[in-house]
Amino acid sequence: MYSYFFISILFYTAVVHANVLSWDEAYIKAAVLVGQMSLDQKVAITTGRGWANGPCGGNTYPISSPHFPSLCLQDGPLGVRGANNVTSGVAGINAAASFDKMAIRARADYLGKEFRGKGIHVQLGPAVNMMRSPKSGRAWEGSGEDPYLAGIVAAESIKGVQAHGVIANVKHYILNDQELNRMTSSSEIDARTLHEIHLWPFARSVEAGVGSVMCSFNKISGVHACENDYLLNTVLKGELGFKGFVVSDWWATHSTVQAANGGLDMAMPGDITLPTAIDIPGSSDSYFGKNLTDAVIQKDVSESRTTDMAMRIVASWYKMHQDENFPQTQLSFDQRNSPFVNVQENHRVLVREMGAASNVLLKNINFTLPIVPSQVKSIAVIGSDAGPPPNGINTCFLNYCSNGTLAQGWGSGTADFPYLIDPLQGLREVFGDTKIKSTLNDWDLHQAAEIAKDADFAFVFSNADSGEGLLGIYGDRKNLSLWQNGDNLIKAVADANSNTIVVIHSVGPVLMPWINHPNIKAVLWPGLPGQESGHSLADIVTGKVNPSGRLPYTIAKREEDYNVDIDLDQVVEYSERLLMGYKWFDHAGIEPLFPFGYGLSYTSFDYDDLKVKTRVFYDDDAKRIVSDAIVRASINVRNRGTYDGAEIVQAYLSFPKSANSPPQQLRGFEKIFLQKGQNATVEFDLRKTELSIWDVSTGTWVIPAGEFTIGIGASSRDIRMSIGFTF
Ligand code: BGC
Repeated sequence: MYSYFFISILFYTAVVHANVLSWDEAYIKAAVLVGQMSLDQKVAITTGRGWANGPCGGNTYPISSPHFPSLCLQDGPLGVRGANNVTSGVAGINAAASFDKMAIRARADYLGKEFRGKGIHVQLGPAVNMMRSPKSGRAWEGSGEDPYLAGIVAAESIKGVQAHGVIANVKHYILNDQELNRMTSSSEIDARTLHEIHLWPFARSVEAGVGSVMCSFNKISGVHACENDYLLNTVLKGELGFKGFVVSDWWATHSTVQAANGGLDMAMPGDITLPTAIDIPGSSDSYFGKNLTDAVIQKDVSESRTTDMAMRIVASWYKMHQDENFPQTQLSFDQRNSPFVNVQENHRVLVREMGAASNVLLKNINFTLPIVPSQVKSIAVIGSDAGPPPNGINTCFLNYCSNGTLAQGWGSGTADFPYLIDPLQGLREVFGDTKIKSTLNDWDLHQAAEIAKDADFAFVFSNADSGEGLLGIYGDRKNLSLWQNGDNLIKAVADANSNTIVVIHSVGPVLMPWINHPNIKAVLWPGLPGQESGHSLADIVTGKVNPSGRLPYTIAKREEDYNVDIDLDQVVEYSERLLMGYKWFDHAGIEPLFPFGYGLSYTSFDYDDLKVKTRVFYDDDAKRIVSDAIVRASINVRNRGTYDGAEIVQAYLSFPKSANSPPQQLRGFEKIFLQKGQNATVEFDLRKTELSIWDVSTGTWVIPAGEFTIGIGASSRDIRMSIGFTF
């Protein structure tokens, strides 16, 4: 199903990636360069030049003799922010919804090319904070509610981007899971939850060789994330062995001595005071810069600490080969003056494929979908979410408005659209203009019903948006309802047409009071598909692509069914502990509307012959499991339907009772494409990490004693076969 282009890109990635230096090699080179730097110079390369003082969102001071350039740090996770001629693809939450490692890597691969093409040294992404509450404003930048899934998405994203010599930046470290009070609140968590849930994707990022980590705005146990000795020095650099550099989120540096000693390696954007307006250059004062040099002279910070900061930055730069032919930075802080550098190539093809691969089919009664265009006389398309933004694309600063179809959320994690194929356009291209009647008015229900009533199929669109809490804008979601009169519009259309198809573009779960309406025959969930929205939707509607997207979060029947909400206090208590998302629903026995991992296909799959083999790497002489202990589970999957298509085979692990763990946790997934009638064996390998819990008393990962169960199936609530094993 993947294009030739897609496969060739993967091959290219493999070739380039082989060139990335090991940390040891990079440190040897860095030692030579940093060895020639004065204290002032070491400090200079750790310090941002201040807001709007350079072409990029963040710019460090350059030095000469020895030469080290000004590093350009630029948002964001889904594309190059604030630039022309770039690709604006699917959001992180869609990358997760594809459950497709190859596609996630291919996405990262083109991102790496585009960031490099613009001469950006550090891509400020991926974002890995959890969708702890369905209302978390920035959850759409990340991967949803499961740390294992987030860890895979992060690792694939980092490897793909860094293969092109761009330093990835995993963010926001850590426990920055809501927008409300993000600058002032303190997150409180126990060590086990920290390790098993929130640290997990950062740990996988470090394993993937990530070059930088962004510390977050919030405090943890009362200590700012960017001066948190325990979390930066003990956990990140110690326990996880992170060798790259820690950069502060923008103005999340709050001190000189505590920050430097607490493990911060780079202050961004460098100045202390927030600018009075977004386009006004910041002050020239800094917690780093001269203040840091003075602190060293006064012996409050050791010079070896500044050497370590510089080593971490320079080693990351060498590791990505940025010393060799790295392109000139091609951005301008005032976007209107940006040089014309087109880095898009044909990445639109991948965005279209990824948009289709991440579209989740939630309901499909009597095979309403797919629709063969030639067999249809008329189609109704209803709702503002089907159409273009009325004032044109990129007219709201950082997408801070929901006009027209929703293809990304708002805030620093956005990228300007080069164009936007809206759903109406996408459907017009496949059904033809003459067959389509449409209205983009969400409020005139009478008109909506009139247009819907005689059509063979009525498509009704709605959305729900959220984003970053910046500039006084409330970022989290205030409720889980659709925007723009969505529920009433859907009901009006469904009352009028017995073949109603609902399409929702959303940052996360929504309530669906209309879901059981007998005239609603199909529900599609394209999430945030980016610039190729309409094309990727049409590919699914017409069956050119058989849907295989899966929900990376739980959609509940009622808002009260979720156990985590936005915390209104300054203390954000992680009192749900391990029971976040589906783990809570499983534990409490609450039936979700659509469970984590859920998604339909135009075909169906049988599962058979589950086997499990333990102690793959058991040391017989020592009679113990060596560190990379592996359990291998295998299962046979057959396409028994009438369409070729891909299944997302998911493996959930239940720990022994002694572990006191959630009932089951995702520990593997594979996307497998099968022609009708075809079958194949799918294997899952579990390392010690995936079989362990965090033992608070020893501060180590241990494999708990007792019987494990591995369940394999099509969603967290559709386990087809399970099998027990012990060590
Ligand atoms: C956001 C970061 C972003 C940074 C630079 C901050 O407000 O939290 O995610 O990378 O700004 O734009």
